[in-house]
Amino acid sequence: MKLKDKVAIVTGAGSGIGRAIALEFVKEGAWVLVSDVDHSGGEETVKMIRGQGKETSFFPADVSQAEEVQKMVSAAVERYKKLDILVNNAAINTMGDSQMITEEVWDKTIAVNLTGTFLCSKYAIAEMKNSGGGVIVNIASVEGLSGFSNQLAYSASKGGVINVTKCLAIDHARDNIRVNSICPADIETPMFTGYVDLEGLEPIKKHMLMQHAMRRFGKPEEVARVAVFLASEDSSYITGTNLIVDGGWMCGKNLDPAEILGWK
Ligand SMILES: NC(=O)c1ccc[n+]([C@@H]2O[C@H](COP(=O)([O-])OP(=O)(O)OC[C@H]3O[C@@H](n4cnc5c(N)ncnc54)[C@H](O)[C@@H]3O)[C@@H](O)[C@H]2O)c1
Repeated sequence: MKLKDKVAIVTGAGSGIGRAIALEFVKEGAWVLVSDVDHSGGEETVKMIRGQGKETSFFPADVSQAEEVQKMVSAAVERYKKLDILVNNAAINTMGDSQMITEEVWDKTIAVNLTGTFLCSKYAIAEMKNSGGGVIVNIASVEGLSGFSNQLAYSASKGGVINVTKCLAIDHARDNIRVNSICPADIETPMFTGYVDLEGLEPIKKHMLMQHAMRRFGKPEEVARVAVFLASEDSSYITGTNLIVDGGWMCGKNLDPAEILGWK
């Protein structure tokens, strides 16, 4: 048990990667406060955790609202008497280039993905300092490492998350708080399938798969295992870093001419 009796908050835990992280943390012995803006998704995750025989609770919070974030952190500390781990996972995906995207969509994307990461970290760090330290894991994206067509606000927000990670790591290393991020590529979650419905679009799916050296999309659990590593003592000397979990998406130009031409 790598997280035995650690207390964690996972934001956006009502779906996809956040849910997988909450379930994996519980398997490793942690107490998890499940948080999400979506009540039914959050309650569903709670049901799944209780199904594993572990007590947990749901706290609804919109990560872009400071007051709700403060209440979420207080709820975890009131219930479990401390806070060891924060996973900043909640995010929205929005599409559009500079001409398509409205100011409202830009503001909302930055508010949830980037300001949300800042707010949750701000109030969690205050508690972690009181109890002698902690760990923060931020879920960024490969889109924060590279330009990406028609994903202006999302990509900008995730680039921001990667640099917030580094700044927090520097500022709080001597408070015994480690801060790292994870950059997934295409992971099979509602966010991914909602953005690209590949049903009946075999040529597009094939093209997308070809961008991954491993020729497959990732599973939420494959990100969750990395979050366990970063939250646990196994990574005790790692802070301010970014782990890419992408099936080889970022490692080079993956398009294989022979494959495109159907030679293999
Ligand atoms: N799925 C992918 O391919 C992929 C790739 C790279 C990065 N990511 C990142 O992984 C993380 C999880 O994504 P996912 O694919 O599981 O998405 P998802 O849409 O399945 O889950 C996101 C969760 O965040 C919640 N959420 C949205 N806005 C919120 C808010 N304001 N406050 C609190 N909760 C809010 C949603 O209700 C949802 O439960 C996100 O940070 C995402 O950017 C995903």
